[in-house]
Amino acid sequence: KPGRVIFSGIQPTGIVHLGNYLGAISNWVELQNNAKPEDQILFSIVGWHALTLPQNPKVLRTARRDTLAALLAFGIDPKKTVLFHQEDNQCHTELAWILSCITPLGTLRRMTTWKSRLADSRNANSEDDINEGMLNAGLFTYPVLQAADILAYRATHVPVGEDQTQHLELSRDLAKSFNKTFNGKKRFFPVPEQMITPFKRVLSLKDPTSKMSKSSPDPTSRILLTDTYPMIQQKLRGAVTDSNSHISFDPINLRGTANLLSILSACTGETIPNIVARYTGKEKAHGILKMEVADSLEEIWRQPRQDFERLRGETEFLDAVAKEGARKAKDMTQQTMKEVRTLVGL
Ligand code: ADP
Ligand code: NA
Repeated sequence: KPGRVIFSGIQPTGIVHLGNYLGAISNWVELQNNAKPEDQILFSIVGWHALTLPQNPKVLRTARRDTLAALLAFGIDPKKTVLFHQEDNQCHTELAWILSCITPLGTLRRMTTWKSRLADSRNANSEDDINEGMLNAGLFTYPVLQAADILAYRATHVPVGEDQTQHLELSRDLAKSFNKTFNGKKRFFPVPEQMITPFKRVLSLKDPTSKMSKSSPDPTSRILLTDTYPMIQQKLRGAVTDSNSHISFDPINLRGTANLLSILSACTGETIPNIVARYTGKEKAHGILKMEVADSLEEIWRQPRQDFERLRGETEFLDAVAKEGARKAKDMTQQTMKEVRTLVGL
């Protein structure tokens, strides 16, 4: 029985935050450690995607190594997983070009990520017209690059959050469309399946209507891998919670509190109803809950933080890991890309 080919990616856009960890990296580590011998797992640090937003080259170069160091610190093992920088394997951009030539423009225009970029640019210019001229083409076409990231390895499974469902649907459509256009409808690319990660969304500590993100301008809205215990405590003390005095789990109306309960449950494994029960009738419950979250977070953060701080200085080691990952990634795509060129007539 052929194994699964599992692919996922993360952008090198700064220090890894708690949302990345609970929503993605912790699941990747679990997948890696529970994989069957016949499974192949790839995790890519996707530098080309980072370029869709303005980057300071020096900062990007550092973030690229830091992201690799963070993945290693959290337990991604290059012996079990092909861990590599996207831009070290040229075939991602080559396949993206080929796929872009069978991608309907209308499909890209319907991407909610694109629509929200358009809406943002419109607000920024306070014009009623949608101002596409303010946005670069990479922001429009990067879902095709994502499809290429996945299909180049003939991946069968993609562990990503719910926010990626629409993009994965495009990857599935492009796999089918390629097979139909160039391979007489026979399967060349597998149609990849989304593996929805159990932890859906970590919310911003300051605005629990949006997700915790690297791109939010308020640095106190997210907890970073580099945050020390006092910093974690301080950020949690400042977390927005709800005005009712008792603790209950209501992710629709009491989002800030629900976010803290979800984080605590993810850190300790205790169920949310059990946590809520412990807080019944407690005075100053929100303050105590925040400090309990800080303590549990510190428990799971301490060791990776120490490893990260050590690893990020070991640049020769990191570069060697990246080089080995790139070699394996290229090995995996060489034959596929040769066949792709033949199929399209080049
Ligand atoms: P960011 O959104 O902060 O720029 P990335 O786009 O690099 O981070 O995302 C890397 C991975 O982390 C993706 O799988 C994404 O779904 C996940 N992720 C990012 N933010 C969150 C969050 N707040 N909650 C859950 N998962 C998240
Ligand atoms: Na993102």
